[in-house]
Amino acid sequence: MAAEKQDGQEDFDKVYQLIMAAWGSQAVRTVATLSVAEHLDNGPLTAEDIAQREASDPDMTYRVLRAVAALGLLTYDADQGTFSATPLLGVLHKDSPTSLKYYAQAAVGPAFWLPAVLLPETVAAGSHHAEQALGSDVFEYLGKNPDEARKFSDAMTDLSAPVVRDALSVIDVGTAKSVLDVGGANGVFVSELVQRNPQLTGSVLDLPHVAAGVAGAAQRRGLGERITGIAGDFFDAVPSADIYLLKQVLHDWDDESGRSILANIRRAMNPGARVFIVEMLVTQSGASSGAALMDMAMLFATTGQERELAQFESLLASAGLRRTRTVPLRPPYYLIEAEAV
Ligand SMILES: C[S@@+](CC[C@H](N)C(=O)[O-])C[C@H]1O[C@@H](n2cnc3c(N)ncnc32)[C@H](O)[C@@H]1O
Repeated sequence: MAAEKQDGQEDFDKVYQLIMAAWGSQAVRTVATLSVAEHLDNGPLTAEDIAQREASDPDMTYRVLRAVAALGLLTYDADQGTFSATPLLGVLHKDSPTSLKYYAQAAVGPAFWLPAVLLPETVAAGSHHAEQALGSDVFEYLGKNPDEARKFSDAMTDLSAPVVRDALSVIDVGTAKSVLDVGGANGVFVSELVQRNPQLTGSVLDLPHVAAGVAGAAQRRGLGERITGIAGDFFDAVPSADIYLLKQVLHDWDDESGRSILANIRRAMNPGARVFIVEMLVTQSGASSGAALMDMAMLFATTGQERELAQFESLLASAGLRRTRTVPLRPPYYLIEAEAV
């Protein structure tokens, strides 16, 4: 046995990296906030160049760039004193088709980072601590912090874009005319669906501070005439439609709240309407790290959880709906199609 293995150094290093990943996340978040990927579009720059463009502190900017270079997102030319982008940094570019620029900022921004710190207390007490960390639940908090809320909606678009493309390839809209994206944030899901199906008009039901951004996002996609933002609360009422989209909304809520959202959809559904749910699935025997870690965010920031298929079936049944189809999308996402019982 190698000496390295004998003294447990390899395991120590692995766990050390897991722990330090939290600080790496903040460095990546800072680089995304400073738009470093965009600044490096035209070639290498020094930390001073970037600091000047962002009005940030040059020495501290250098230290963050150095950390992120150590993580593989940049390379450093010591002779020139310049940083260059690697393909990994491209993922933080606003124009990348697979961008995580806003997810990098939101996922470890205050709305999630502050309650995350209380995860041990949450688990010990068996009660959610997000209100203690944020002064209100996470969505109310975002309502009071517009800049963070905008980044959160853009983060949802970042995260949704690839899986939405998968979902579209397995959704046949049939003769439907109207589609409602329930808790749809910027409306990436409904926009893509409407873009592919000229007979559809779409709307996004979301909280007022989010719904206000839907029209602008639709206009930027050339869909200003066909997508509407509806400011509302899905616990009060949901408008009528032929197709309902519900992507990563149920995971934010406990069973009783999830049932209430689905029951409001059930009440409003036009005859023959269908519900398309996109969520991560976990199983009794385990979960991918993607789903299991998203479940941690649900644990510390919301009252929700990632669920098994059987849990979705019970939730649907409790609201007068039944599952008609389940299609695996890119792991760990699934499309669950449902209709009225
Ligand atoms: C996790 S995000 C999912 C966004 C989008 N469906 C996606 O996957 O890209 C949850 C969304 O639910 C919205 N939301 C939370 N509470 C709501 C409520 N009571 N009524 C309507 N929308 C709500 C949030 O503003 C947010 O846009």
